[in-house]
Amino acid sequence: MSKINAAITGVGGYVPEYILTNKELEKMVDTSDEWITSRTGIKERRILKGENQGVSILGINAVKDLIAKTKIDPKENELLIFATVTADMTFPATANIVASAVGATNAFSYDMSAACSGFIYALTTGASFIKSGMYKKVVVVGGDKMSAIMDYTDRTTCIIFGDGAGCVLLEPTTEEVGVIDSILKSDGGGESYLHMKAGGSRIPASHDTVDKRQHFVYQEGSAVFKFAVTNMAEVAAQLAERNHLTRETIDWLVPHQANKRIIDATANRVGITEDKVMMNIEKYGNTTAGTIPLLLWDYEKKLKKGDDLILAAFGGGFTWGAVYVKWAYTS
Ligand code: UT7
Repeated sequence: MSKINAAITGVGGYVPEYILTNKELEKMVDTSDEWITSRTGIKERRILKGENQGVSILGINAVKDLIAKTKIDPKENELLIFATVTADMTFPATANIVASAVGATNAFSYDMSAACSGFIYALTTGASFIKSGMYKKVVVVGGDKMSAIMDYTDRTTCIIFGDGAGCVLLEPTTEEVGVIDSILKSDGGGESYLHMKAGGSRIPASHDTVDKRQHFVYQEGSAVFKFAVTNMAEVAAQLAERNHLTRETIDWLVPHQANKRIIDATANRVGITEDKVMMNIEKYGNTTAGTIPLLLWDYEKKLKKGDDLILAAFGGGFTWGAVYVKWAYTS
């Protein structure tokens, strides 16, 4: 029997309409468009406004886009994984809400929590279910409503993050395309640098936690920056080397969009020129688990069957990793 590969056969995405610009942030905190642009590469980010609008709204719209583009019957979807750290509720899983809303009534679904590496963790997991022969239609979603956990009085974090979600469809193929290889890592020792202090089971929500502003992202930016540069670049280079990919043969680097300076450092380490690096940080900022699928969504038309892509991410946990994808179709 020939080997089954897990091909990405479609991409969907969604970003909310409201645009929060650097100029508007200048009115909210002590910052400047010049500082944000030069230190991060971000010009604007999208924000999901309105009452009772959780990250599921982003996921539902992204998956509906995927269904419309691929014309699959949602009832054929057997598994839906949603990578997010901003679930609608602690439970049930947001994946359950999304699957029901899009009519994927035969799918089982669950959330995956790996912060900015969430999508590459979920992609590798989803691909494994396809490669094992267990399922034939798996939807992998990555998205976050970071504005829900953002302290808009803290200039060191609120300028970076935004809201958005993207997704892919995975299907089996016997061709040599799809999710070929991945290296995934985590280190719980990173907890102190990037986390949300309260609202979990260790420190449940209380008046005190609200007064202390503990329901927002806490980040020691420059420490995270150093870990991100070293680890994301190293794992991407390691994955390329073990798959005999060189700077000449890699068609695209698809890096998590946290900071343009981290992206540039990763590209340098792998030896890739800027024209081969997917980038949309200027318009969406850091959407956590949403960045990589939103890049695939934005660049889909430029991708050709057989293109070699290296996806790479680093985030809270710490979590990090890289995935080698051979693109399966030309749009
Ligand atoms: O995606 C998940 C993983 N997260 C990341 O990968 C994020 C990694 N970290 C970063 O991207 C960067 O560290 C930041 C963008 C968060 C900060 O940039 P930085 O170059 O590391 O700045 P810094 O924290 O070292 O701060 C430098 C200075 C400080 O002022 P002093 O102490 O030198 O006077 C900050 O107070 O910049 C100041 N600063 C700002 N100034 C204007 C910090 N944020 C701002 C701001 N506007 N928004």
